[in-house]
Order: sequence, then structure tokens, then C-alpha cells
Amino acid sequence: MNAVLDEKLITEISDRDAFSGRVRTEEPMGRHTYIGIGGPAALYVVPDDVRSLRHALLVAERNGLQVTALGRGTNVLVGDRGVDGMVVSMLRLNGLEAVGADSEECVLKAGAGHSLKRLVAHSAREGLSGIEGLSGVPGTVGGAVAGNAGAFGYEFGDVVRTVTVMAGGGKIKTLGPGDMDFAYRRSALRAGKVLLEAEIVLKRDEPREVALKVERFIGQKRNTQPLRERSAGCVFMNPEGDSAGRLIDAAGLKGRKIGNIEVSSVHANFFINRGGGTAADFMALVEEVTRRVREVHGVELELEIRLIGR
Ligand code: EPU
Repeated sequence: MNAVLDEKLITEISDRDAFSGRVRTEEPMGRHTYIGIGGPAALYVVPDDVRSLRHALLVAERNGLQVTALGRGTNVLVGDRGVDGMVVSMLRLNGLEAVGADSEECVLKAGAGHSLKRLVAHSAREGLSGIEGLSGVPGTVGGAVAGNAGAFGYEFGDVVRTVTVMAGGGKIKTLGPGDMDFAYRRSALRAGKVLLEAEIVLKRDEPREVALKVERFIGQKRNTQPLRERSAGCVFMNPEGDSAGRLIDAAGLKGRKIGNIEVSSVHANFFINRGGGTAADFMALVEEVTRRVREVHGVELELEIRLIGR
């Protein structure tokens, strides 16, 4: 975008009566992705509330800007040349409240920007069962819905009761799990809709039991995954009946490095940014790993991470 257009858009978005939050141009997305990679977003908007989000989305619509909603940027790769249009950070739409409860279960409403780790911790404190396996998964509720986050046989889609989205014209719609088509690491959250919040149903259990499970899963994760390194989570989906990590490892690729991106020697389905890594290096490594796994095992790996931008 050119500077004049930038100014016009910033003025239009930052209307005090309609918008509270932050607006920036040419914001480096490496600051907002877990792996620390990504060129500039033409417009980067952090709305404080749904009303401000709606205003920003209407401005984008009027000006024909493509919108990309982003949570903590944990399972995505943003291109080195950045993202056209508007990137909307959902991190401030992070409320959490109980909206229904009986002796058997509890319904929680969580904003798209609510941290998944905090949600799991909350459920353990309250003795609410259903998402224990997701302990240690970074990212937000919005990301967990969009990518149907999963681990240890648990999937976020399994606990979702309804999802609220904002569609064209700022219209708010509530969808049921049937509309979401949750599948392995996928959902039908379509472009053009921004997820606002999700209602999830958790079963009552002993707080101690839930906390123990959460601890056990996080322990297992710490032992088998490079949780402290800068990564984008599992790069590839598991092929039917096997593990992408096992296949990459067995092809001898642990530690293989292109530029500053390296196949983790802890778990081969994680690529680590050793500092200053680029999306180009990451994708070159994706290509090499895909080719080697095809040659060695005859298996075609498919990306799990979502590619954003150019
Ligand atoms: N393995 C290796 N070498 C490796 C990695 C794994 O030999 O480098 C072997 C393990 O020893 C084990 C088998 O492969 O025998 C399976 O490994 P693991 O239990 O770590 O599970 P995974 O299939 O590799 C999946 C999910 C993870 C999730 C874990 C735990 C996918 C793509 N991966 O990994 O999800 O945390 O199970 O349930 O579905 C993610 O999606 O981002 C992710 C990290």
C-alpha cells in the first residue's frame, strides 16, 4: 500500500467513537509469530473489543482489503515478503466466563484470543474434564478451533458446542459443530469470517484427577517435543496410521539444517528457528523433507501449518 492510502486507512480505522485499540502499518510479523518469522503486515490492527473489531472489518471491507485473523501465531508460517491487506490480532478478545452449569457439566465461553494454556489451567483448577490432552499446546482458543488442535487423542472440536463468527457486513452468526466440519487438524472456518468466541462443554470431575492428567500429558510433551524452542509446532500432519516425526527421523533428517532452520533432534516434525531463520529457508526444508520421505518411505507428507502471506 502507498503512504497516502495508509494514512487514509489509519484515520478511517482510528475513529475514536468507533474504535479502541492499536493500528500500525508495515508491522513485522516476526514479532507476532511463535517461531519469530514473517515479513510486514501492510496494516496490523489490535482491537480492544468486538465493537472495534467490527469497525476495523467494515473499513477493510469498504476498501477491499483482505483480512487475516491471527491469535498467537503458533501453528502458522508467515512469508518473508509479508501480508497484504489487514492482519487482525485477536489477543485482546480474550474473555472467559461460565455461561451454564449443572452437576454434570459446565459450559465456558472463551474469546478467540483467550490463551489455550490458561483455559487448560482453569479447567484443571475447577475440575472440568475434556481438554487435558491439550496441556502444553501454545496458542489461542481461536487457533484451536480453526485448526482443531489435538494431542493424546483429545481434539478441541470434540468439546465445542457453538462458535460465534463475524461475517461480511459485520454480521454476527452462531454456528454449531455441524457447520464446522471438524476433522483431523482441520475445520471449515471459511475465509471471510472472523471467529469471535467459542462455547465449550466440559464434564465435572475431581480437580485432583484433572490436574494429574494435565501434569502427566505436559510431562510427556516435555520429554518428546522441543517446547522451549522457537517452532511452529508440528509441521506436517500425520499420515494415516503413522507419525510424520517417525518417518522424518527414520529418513535420517534430524538435525538437517537449511539457513537457520533446523529439523529438531528432539522431535523431527518440529522445525526450529535457530535465530534469524527465514520463511524461504523453512519452505526449502519442507521441500527437502517431503522429497526425502517420499524417496525413503513412499509416503507423501502434507503440511499441517497454515501458510500466510507472500
Ligand atoms: N518418533 C520418532 N522420532 C521422532 C518423533 C517421533 O521415532 O522424531 C516416534 C515416537 O517414538 C513414537 C511415534 O513416532 O513411537 C509417535 O510419536 P509421538 O508420540 O511424539 O506422536 P506424533 O504422532 O509424532 C502427534 C501429534 C502432536 C501431538 C502428539 C501427542 C500430529 C502431526 N502430531 O505427534 O501434535 O502433540 O501426537 O499426542 O498430529 C501438532 O499437531 O502440532 C502436534 C505437535
